[in-house]
Amino acid sequence: MPPPAQHTLPLTLIVATTPIRLPPTPTPSTSTSTNGNGTPSQPTRLGIGHKGTLPWPRIKADMSFFARVTSRPPAPGTTNAIIMGRKTYDSVPVHLRPLAKRINVVITRDKSGAVAEGVVRELEVRRGKIAAKAAAAAGTGGSTGQEDTETKPAEKAEEPITDAIVTRSLDDALTELQNHYGSSGRLGKIYIIGGAEIYAAALARPSSSSAASTELSRRPIRVVMTNVARKRTADEEEKGTEPPSSFDCDTFFPVDELSVQNGWRSVSKDEVSEWVGEEVSGEWKEDGEVEIQMVGFEKV
Ligand SMILES: NC(=O)c1ccc[n+]([C@@H]2O[C@H](COP(=O)([O-])OP(=O)(O)OC[C@H]3O[C@@H](n4cnc5c(N)ncnc54)[C@H](OP(=O)(O)O)[C@@H]3O)[C@@H](O)[C@H]2O)c1
Repeated sequence: MPPPAQHTLPLTLIVATTPIRLPPTPTPSTSTSTNGNGTPSQPTRLGIGHKGTLPWPRIKADMSFFARVTSRPPAPGTTNAIIMGRKTYDSVPVHLRPLAKRINVVITRDKSGAVAEGVVRELEVRRGKIAAKAAAAAGTGGSTGQEDTETKPAEKAEEPITDAIVTRSLDDALTELQNHYGSSGRLGKIYIIGGAEIYAAALARPSSSSAASTELSRRPIRVVMTNVARKRTADEEEKGTEPPSSFDCDTFFPVDELSVQNGWRSVSKDEVSEWVGEEVSGEWKEDGEVEIQMVGFEKV
């Protein structure tokens, strides 16, 4: 059977969220379910960011999950793309951007060229460092084990590349990825890594007038979500009460509830595992101050 056409390959939104309970005043932009006795329960939004960064302290297990999943190509000779808004790109520590072994796509409205120039400059520095590390690792015959994606021996032709492009919209991003990498069979999976504006663009109904948007509309949309919750205190554990929303958030995932009513299907752990290329248990696991759980949804 021939491989599926590139424009029908799924777009996977990968995101970590924490539920933020809002005061119980229903508004059109929040979910307003009842709590079973007819009274409105507190609407909940899914927090993803605060002051330009993540709302929670570093979650090692989630960061390494993100790195492994987004950089693992589906076949030798292919590289995954990660599409992000300019603010999310800026939120990545300078020494780690563009992220190694992935095609970084940065979306901006900037017309001055300053964003593109900055990304190109950082790509050159980053590639230089990756090459130096690879040479050093080849010389010592081992890896430093510090950063999972860049410490292996010298990059071979079959291995994912580190690249970055800057585009003016999500449609342009998909078109450029197809033209530069897809048409020559070098494009792996496409991950949309945020932030809220770019998730919203991916979930928006595309305008029928745009050919590129039609391509967007044909792609299955998946969400790989890490649920983040503050660990219950011993007291909360004993009383069986939920921990309060414990992270300040000013940026939210554009969908408050990925439910059947909202057009989403919650997928099994086996499906998520198949999507991401590694075993996902779906269980809650402790990591420092928090508990995390990886789950998946598909837009139906
Ligand atoms: N929890 C998670 O998994 C997760 C993931 C990613 C990000 N985050 C957090 O989310 C926050 C950032 O999200 P955000 O929504 O504020 O910003 P964002 O989506 O990362 O970036 C917004 C920027 O993208 C560009 N942009 C957005 N829509 C565009 C469009 N339609 N056409 C062209 N350019 C467009 C604009 O760049 P210009 O201003 O340059 O024109 C805009 O300012 C941060 O706090 C970050 O840490 C969390």
